[in-house]
Amino acid sequence: MTIEEEYVIETKDLVKIYKTGKVKAVDGLNLRIKKGEIYALIGANGSGKTTSLNMISGALFPTSGEIKVFGYEVPKSRRLITSYIGIAPQDYSIYEDLSLEENVRFFSRIYGMSKTEFEPRFVELLRILRLEEKRKVTVKNLSGGMKRRTSIACSLIHSPKIVFFDEATVGVDPVLRTFFWEYFRSLKDDGITLVLTSHVMDEAERADRIGLMRSGKLIAEGSPEELKLKHNASTIEEIFIKLSEGEIIDD
Ligand SMILES: Nc1ncnc2c1ncn2[C@@H]1O[C@H](COP(=O)(O)OP(=O)(O)OP(=O)(O)O)[C@@H](O)[C@H]1O
Ligand SMILES: [Mg+2]
Repeated sequence: MTIEEEYVIETKDLVKIYKTGKVKAVDGLNLRIKKGEIYALIGANGSGKTTSLNMISGALFPTSGEIKVFGYEVPKSRRLITSYIGIAPQDYSIYEDLSLEENVRFFSRIYGMSKTEFEPRFVELLRILRLEEKRKVTVKNLSGGMKRRTSIACSLIHSPKIVFFDEATVGVDPVLRTFFWEYFRSLKDDGITLVLTSHVMDEAERADRIGLMRSGKLIAEGSPEELKLKHNASTIEEIFIKLSEGEIIDD
């Protein structure tokens, strides 16, 4: 099978066995994600979501398999696509002793943004993330949800074309979460692709497509409506509970 350009992300038989681990953290993952899609990867703790995102974004070497992002092979050509990718990691890597602004500025430099490019984009993100008042505040003095939002700002500052949010909205209150989703939709309208993981099922339900992982495998995939129809369920949570336990279904 050859990887088609239509997909901005494609993986083929992706496998990860950690050096210290005995099992396959990711076990033959085949993903195809189109430009402008909002794709939610869900699954129980340890099912392989973070490992998958880290490999796709070029942060972690796969044991075997193929990854293409914008048609470029990852990790081989990952440097060519760094500036097109934004990542808000699960264990967010922001500096507690720096201010919110210093953190975001730091990431903007990594992505090669100039000072003149930084300011208007930063102001826009502060508004979207409702962090205007916190610009100069040292990160350690922010609340948990505000730290998460700072991490999101760091991931979006360079206007990436693909964004990976690994449980990025953990601790973000429901009002803001709803507001964020309006923003995610607007990113989608601009052709930006969002890949997110979440344990909040109503969040997954807002995605265009959901992929459910179990033991490193994708065991169900489809739009929320397709999945509910296929599994005769009224919510994604029901499907999650049903499929995350018991025998692995090979469809
Ligand atoms: N650095 C590591 N070294 C060894 N094993 C690891 C490492 N990171 C993850 N694992 C193992 O790989 C498997 C998949 O972990 P992963 O973090 O990808 O799961 P996840 O789906 O993101 O879980 P969660 O919902 O808890 O974030 C687990 O069995 C985990 O213990
Ligand atoms: Mg994870």
